[in-house]
Amino acid sequence: MTKVLVATEKPFAAEAVTAIKEIVDHAGFEFALLEKYTDTAQFLDAVKDADAIIIRSDQVTPQVIDAAKQLKIVVRAGAGYDNVDLAAASAHDIVVMNTPGQNANAVAELALGMMIYHARGLFTGKPGSELRGKTIGLHAYGNVSKQVSRLAEGFEMEVLAYDPYIEKEKRGLFDCEFVDTAEELYSRCKYVSLHMPANGETKSSVNYALLTKMPKNAVVVNTARKEVINETDLLRIFEERDDINYLSDVAPDCAAEMLEKYPGRVFFTPKKMGAQTGEANVNAGIAAANQIEAFLKEGDRTFQVNK
Ligand code: 3PG
Repeated sequence: MTKVLVATEKPFAAEAVTAIKEIVDHAGFEFALLEKYTDTAQFLDAVKDADAIIIRSDQVTPQVIDAAKQLKIVVRAGAGYDNVDLAAASAHDIVVMNTPGQNANAVAELALGMMIYHARGLFTGKPGSELRGKTIGLHAYGNVSKQVSRLAEGFEMEVLAYDPYIEKEKRGLFDCEFVDTAEELYSRCKYVSLHMPANGETKSSVNYALLTKMPKNAVVVNTARKEVINETDLLRIFEERDDINYLSDVAPDCAAEMLEKYPGRVFFTPKKMGAQTGEANVNAGIAAANQIEAFLKEGDRTFQVNK
């Protein structure tokens, strides 16, 4: 019997697991669940007879691929697939997909939530500031950015965006002002919200040259990946300027140093929680299960990322 394994170190909300199981059962497949595993060995053991797996930020390494002798498809229930070794999957003819957009609203709400929390002095009771009338720059314009833009407009913020992959002719389709360079985005915006995937091009790309352009009391909001910011440069700009702020889901490697040296200017979530809502889990989980059924029964490769 075709086996679909949900392998999530950080579990889905219970209602998402129920919804996934229903789809898997209805499709006539076998459902298996591995949650909160503490050792890779448990993952390696669970994948050995799985035909399909649904994961979150779980690491699908060459070792996992090797152990999964029957595996045909991996669906990352979420947007970023930097946790999956695409080359290893492709070498074994395994299809990898994501579920783009399904958790975008949850991540966007967290970005705005962190901004408000910070603007109000981390809810300590001292006078803070408002988002209304402030400028926010979206660095990369994908599904999450579109939701941040929509919410920021509700707060009457001015929304700018920079994305070299959106052609000039298409920019008019969106409700924000596109700028031509990252430098312009960082120079014009009090808030810059990061939304690029983590890859060879973007890792460490938010660097000193960009950060130093930011106006007084600027805030960098990172709900993308910790790797996209250059931490040496981040520490350097914090050292040089006492008005820069950094809010991140999840904590950078230099978190302990920053929290100690710069209280009030930094905030980090303890565990990546942008997509950690029941709604996002249900949306992404259902999409993942449906994509697996469509692929295994009809060969539907929509959303394949290792083409
Ligand atoms: C994503 O890439 O979709 C988000 O970072 C969510 O990751 P998570 O499923 O591990 O919460």
